[in-house]
Amino acid sequence: VTVLNATGMFVMPGGIDPHTHLDMPFMGSVTADDFFSGQAAALAGGTTMHIDFALPVNHDIMAGYELWKEKASRSCMDYGFHMAITRWDEQVSRDMEALVHEGINSFKFFMAYKNVLQVTDSELVAGLQRCRELGALPMVHAENGDMIAWLQSRLLSEGIRGPEGHAMSRPAALEGEATGRAVRLAGVVGVPLYVVHVMSIDAMEEIARARRAGQRVVGEPVSSGLALDESPMWDTNFTRAAAFVMSPPIRSAEHGPALKKALASGVLQLVATDHAVFNSTQKAAGRNDFTRIPNGVNGIEERMHVTWQEMVVSGLSTPSDFVRMTSTAAAQIYNLYPRKGRVAAGSDADVILLDPRITHTLGVGSHHSRMDTNVYEGKQIQGKVVTTISRGRLVWHNGQLLGVRPGTGRFVPMPPFGPLFEVREAQHLYRRV
Ligand code: URP
Ligand code: ZN
Ligand code: ZN
Repeated sequence: VTVLNATGMFVMPGGIDPHTHLDMPFMGSVTADDFFSGQAAALAGGTTMHIDFALPVNHDIMAGYELWKEKASRSCMDYGFHMAITRWDEQVSRDMEALVHEGINSFKFFMAYKNVLQVTDSELVAGLQRCRELGALPMVHAENGDMIAWLQSRLLSEGIRGPEGHAMSRPAALEGEATGRAVRLAGVVGVPLYVVHVMSIDAMEEIARARRAGQRVVGEPVSSGLALDESPMWDTNFTRAAAFVMSPPIRSAEHGPALKKALASGVLQLVATDHAVFNSTQKAAGRNDFTRIPNGVNGIEERMHVTWQEMVVSGLSTPSDFVRMTSTAAAQIYNLYPRKGRVAAGSDADVILLDPRITHTLGVGSHHSRMDTNVYEGKQIQGKVVTTISRGRLVWHNGQLLGVRPGTGRFVPMPPFGPLFEVREAQHLYRRV
């Protein structure tokens, strides 16, 4: 038995990051963190489970699942999968059921990334309907991909080629439009909806409106959207500017504070990262054309600290709220509660100790990711995760990763028909919207 002295510290459930991309091929590169390096970083930051987005292989979701299982064999902590749907046909519809039996209870539809991942509205509606039948949660990347493609070519033809073009080509209005569209389509179909990486007031207001009307919509902000603003994308240093390129983009300075208030008041429910990292050599593919900069920023290690700083230290939320938005809400939404998301007898022993007296600084010098940049470089945090326990094993203690090896992590199946599906009575409310 190891006895830990937690005097003066917060003892909390390990974090659950519901949105990551490890070992993901995207925009001509593969993310720099694989399942081992990304998860080791997560453990050092107090996260003990994540849900990664498996991508289909040539639109084949079973092949994508097999590939992601192989990638995840390097794991050193608990993980689950969402599956992306990038085309609609009978085979995909059948395979979705097979994947639900395997323990995948959520499917992501991209409304952007035209000619790559984007689905049409009719494909999205077919997918929403199938999710409803299967008790699986549909998720949307909500941006209007057609309009973005139009703006991208207009900006390029005007000679705007730098990373600032990324922000200019993806205005918040296009995120708001797509969010409103997805919310309405889900309302008509009668299925709950999960909106990933809510980055703007525009999208958040659509979610607030639907929730006020009684519709079951979950809004997921990410740590970068809460804590950062778009200004670095105008930095004349390409490497720094490109490091901030993700989609939907990190927004102008008024959006982060509004998202934080929405999170504090329950309009938005949980914090993810969208950890999808490309190093400066990979990002350099878009040196002369912003549309070729691989999209994504870091966060899997920083999310707990950034959320603590932005929500609790700032005075917006309580430590109990922090537990909900970093762990419990994810466990409930993905039907893992009470196994995950709480500290109690019978639950998995995923526990962290956070010492609120320690001040530290985020950045490349101290992070565990393979990345050579960090969008939180120099950010001061009041409070530090000093200990992480994963399923009862001490894996991070006083600045050291302990016994963390590839192949020791486990897949956590997530059953369908989670709490968002429970109240049949709510169905009629969807149709009112
Ligand atoms: O920029 C991002 N978000 N990259 C990862 C893919 C996605 O859209 O989630
Ligand atoms: Zn996305
Ligand atoms: Zn993502």
